Amino acid sequence: MVAPGKGIIAADESSGTCQKRFDAVGVECTEENRRQYRQTIFTAEGLEQYISGIILYDETIRQKTDSGVPFPELLAKKGILPGIKVDAGAKELALHPGEKITEGLDGLRERLAEYSKLGTKFAKWRAVITIENGIPSEACIDSNAHAMARYAALCQEAGIVPIVEPEVLIDGEHTLERCFEVSEKTLEETFEELKEAGVAPEGTILKASMVIAGKKAAKQSSVDEVADATIRVLTATVPKDLAGVVFLSGGQGDEQATAHLNKMNQMGKYAWPLSFSYARAIQNPVLKIWAADTKNNVGKAQAALLFRSKMNALATQGKYSDEIEKERPY
Ligand code: 13P
Repeated sequence: MVAPGKGIIAADESSGTCQKRFDAVGVECTEENRRQYRQTIFTAEGLEQYISGIILYDETIRQKTDSGVPFPELLAKKGILPGIKVDAGAKELALHPGEKITEGLDGLRERLAEYSKLGTKFAKWRAVITIENGIPSEACIDSNAHAMARYAALCQEAGIVPIVEPEVLIDGEHTLERCFEVSEKTLEETFEELKEAGVAPEGTILKASMVIAGKKAAKQSSVDEVADATIRVLTATVPKDLAGVVFLSGGQGDEQATAHLNKMNQMGKYAWPLSFSYARAIQNPVLKIWAADTKNNVGKAQAALLFRSKMNALATQGKYSDEIEKERPY
């Protein structure tokens, strides 16, 4: 999953999230359109040079190519590990307005057994932490960390590698310093709960959000500030024997997300590989190009996918640059 020079694509948008993404580009969000779009991603030739794993959604893991090959089988044949999103989404946290708790533990043992049979090697669970005046609360951080630990333990019991994703949202006006504070607390609590649950760090991946000022903050963060603060929080909280850290893009610009990862990998070597697990920062141009002409633009969309995947793969080695970015084929 964190092989040198490779990263993960998150293609696990729930049907609800897919609806939002497809609406934005004017494509009807039917099961068949979702299948064709995912097929465009999975069949891109050479994707495995840059991508070690792809996270799927429950619907997607059961879908097939035009010629009838199940998606997980197609990926496995290319040497890409199929993963699965197993949480049931973030819901309102009772008695805590504006905060969320991720659901999905009920029946998870049975679902993991089925996903394992379908070829899944790893799983993902996303928790959402919102920064606003007076939040996040201890209750929100604690209950999400506890749920992630229960999820991760069930994954390891089933022989599936858990990705734990406590996402501190970029939305809002908060400063980078406030994001640091909240990220530190969230990560500390998450690793404490994982330890208490007996989850082996060597078989766990952290999917982290970067430390960055809120999207509406008066002062936006520079690449150097994001890289520096993110590394500081990770080195302070992440156990040295964790298998790896991958980032979500969280609404950052495509090139911005690549530049941040690149800078961190230029700054030094860490106890864990530092890679990516982007959804939007890889798929934004791909979806846009595909949507403009779903019949005839498959090749162009795949070229954009390969390019963004390559840029991020270079960033895992600190080898990305503005010069290389100029070769963009879209
Ligand atoms: P983004 O990269 O679009 O934030 O998505 C990552 C992800 O998988 C969120 O769970």
